[in-house]
Amino acid sequence: MAEMKKGPLSAFTRSPNKAANVLPIPPARQRLVIGNWKMHGDLDLCLETVSVLADVVTPQVGLVLCPPAPYLGEIRRLAQGTRLDMSAQNVAELSGGERTGEWSARMLAEVGCRYAIVGHSERRRHHLECDQLTAAKAQACLNAGITPVVCIGESQLERDNLLTEHILGRQLRHLVQIPGWREVVVAYEPVWAIGTGHAATPDEAQAAHAFIRACLAQTDPVAAAQISVLYGGSVNEHNAAALFAMPDVDGALVGRASLSPQALSRIYTAALRS
Ligand code: PGA
Repeated sequence: MAEMKKGPLSAFTRSPNKAANVLPIPPARQRLVIGNWKMHGDLDLCLETVSVLADVVTPQVGLVLCPPAPYLGEIRRLAQGTRLDMSAQNVAELSGGERTGEWSARMLAEVGCRYAIVGHSERRRHHLECDQLTAAKAQACLNAGITPVVCIGESQLERDNLLTEHILGRQLRHLVQIPGWREVVVAYEPVWAIGTGHAATPDEAQAAHAFIRACLAQTDPVAAAQISVLYGGSVNEHNAAALFAMPDVDGALVGRASLSPQALSRIYTAALRS
């Protein structure tokens, strides 16, 4: 990502030799692999996924299943007693009320969700969700004890017009206005990479992640060093290891490939080895 400025990033990577002269090495960031089924899957996939993954997951890297909301209860039932975590794909910004078709963060917490995705580009595009609403949803999650996975990223057109930094900066500016922003997980999901089969290269992902961390560091350098930043967009079992080798890539938000439990398992194993 040639247009990105070099920020004070070297102090915030996991690489000890880069960090040593500037700031103490921050505690290891939470590494995560999240399988986002979007509006796919069925009860059979719930069973197959939990059967394949239950024995794979370790405390070193989180493994989170994010099925469509009607299957959360089934995943919870099947995954009981395992280390698998569960996420919702969406949540309301409100704690309750007359909002047919919505659900609150408290409800998600009650049925066992540890995470909720907010601000996915498909929500922004098809449901016109904006940065303010995304930030409000993130805070609603935090209020209910759920970790929001806040998706940000530029479109192809924005990238072509060298607006990547501008877009990421704008999205993050709204995020850091909520009191709990230090507790979120950020997912860098370039819209041009989602569902296209063309993932960002490891260097492109690293440049964007480093920029995200530099933006957050303007508000709080310590928090910026500790926040997990996941990459999402056409991650698969073949490109995962190279992406995870990047110092600022803490895991992945996986869409299509997560519909294959075997592929998700291999992506998870790549994260474990990184
Ligand atoms: P993809 O989706 O892996 O199918 O590109 C990623 C996402 O939208 O979270």
